[in-house]
Amino acid sequence: MAKTKTTFFCQNCGTQYAQWIGKCNACNEWNTIVEEIIQKEEKRDWKQSSPIKKTSKALRINDIAIEAEDRIDTKNNELNRVLGGGLVKGSMTLLGGEPGIGKSTLLLQVALQLNKKVLYVSGEESQSQIKMRAERLSTKSTNCFVLTETKTQNVFKNIEENQPEVVVIDSIQTLYTDRIDASPGTISQIRETTAELIKYAKETATPVMLIGHITKEGTIAGPKLLEHMVDVVLQFEGDSNHTYRILRAQKNRFGSTAELGIYEMQHDGLREVENPSEILISQKDESLSGTAIGATLEGMRPLMLEVQALVSTAVYGTPQRSTTGYNTKRLNMILAVLEKRAGFRLGAKDVFLNIAGGISVDDPAIDLSVVAAILSSNEDEVIAKDYCFAGEVGLTGEIRPVTRIDQRIMEAQKLGFSKIMVSKYNKITSKNYAIKVILVTKIEDVYQQLFV
Ligand code: TYD
Ligand code: MG
Repeated sequence: MAKTKTTFFCQNCGTQYAQWIGKCNACNEWNTIVEEIIQKEEKRDWKQSSPIKKTSKALRINDIAIEAEDRIDTKNNELNRVLGGGLVKGSMTLLGGEPGIGKSTLLLQVALQLNKKVLYVSGEESQSQIKMRAERLSTKSTNCFVLTETKTQNVFKNIEENQPEVVVIDSIQTLYTDRIDASPGTISQIRETTAELIKYAKETATPVMLIGHITKEGTIAGPKLLEHMVDVVLQFEGDSNHTYRILRAQKNRFGSTAELGIYEMQHDGLREVENPSEILISQKDESLSGTAIGATLEGMRPLMLEVQALVSTAVYGTPQRSTTGYNTKRLNMILAVLEKRAGFRLGAKDVFLNIAGGISVDDPAIDLSVVAAILSSNEDEVIAKDYCFAGEVGLTGEIRPVTRIDQRIMEAQKLGFSKIMVSKYNKITSKNYAIKVILVTKIEDVYQQLFV
């Protein structure tokens, strides 16, 4: 037997050290360095009986034939979109998210919907707990097998017997391999078990989906290392006060990371939200000042979002600026532009800004609706409910063009808006929209158009 070799790992960020120290130099956490055994007894192989002896040959790039990626339809449109069109065979997907957000629910639901033989391995819940959860979900399946196991060797034994077409592991942190002598959830166990699973996935072309816990900073525990190893990293997020959940790809070797899936958590599982704009705009009969609708894009997907602003006289000496879902620095910039270029005296006012629905936006096209909401609240004048906005605001007060304007206009038209305000510099290809397109060049024009 080989001599036992140990090394020290930070359990928070995965940094390796030759000796124990009290504080990790990389992430500045105290008492996170733990000694782990790294020496393996045998070589890492998922299939003990027949080690595969295949060697690869280098090919000239021109000679490599492109194989169409073989994708499995997950029967879940939102997940398919985020994955880039389905689950790629032999791929390793990691799903991370806060506890209780619905990771197990999502993957169990997918396992039940799939028309394939699925092995759902859980190290967290018992078979009857999983059965109870499956009862709550409305989908039924006869081809989903549930295994409660935490040792990879046993999981692989079961895989060899059952030959599943898709494997789900709930969660990677509960899994361990007996080849190394560290407890489950430690850096070396996560690395070893993931490596074994990757080898299995690649050799048998079986897609494997892993659930991963996240640390208190919101990154996947067993950190960067795990994210480097897998093909796709998905993040499931949402906030506990809302029932909406957002699925985004942080890394995707087979598709775009700009895509977004939206779900609603209901009593019988996660419902796919096909038309998010409808739910994100608050439904109300009475129009109030301080709200404006922005036509934004999340990835390739148009999303109409409601911006709410409240401008009031500052109660304290220094005015407060607070935002939810929008960058505070950007709000300060917009307020400065409004003050300097259009003469609005907002310097002594408190300004609060909120994007409805708990969504946070990066798309600069929301700027114009931020301006409109602030002006509306400041003037206490209502903006018509069927009016929306898409434009970026520059430092000189000009309204700048935004990407894919036609897609935004189309979405607004589809949802029944009758007017959309955009930059005059935007090249609009189609001229015959039913919706009225209002062109503006400067921030003063916005005020003129809305309230004069
Ligand atoms: P879960 O999938 O266990 O979360 P995770 O695996 O990410 O920790 O989700 C659990 C939460 O979802 C729990 O608070 C209850 C809720 N839930 C529903 O609202 N409806 C349902 O049909 C199910 C199965 C769960
Ligand atoms: Mg879970």
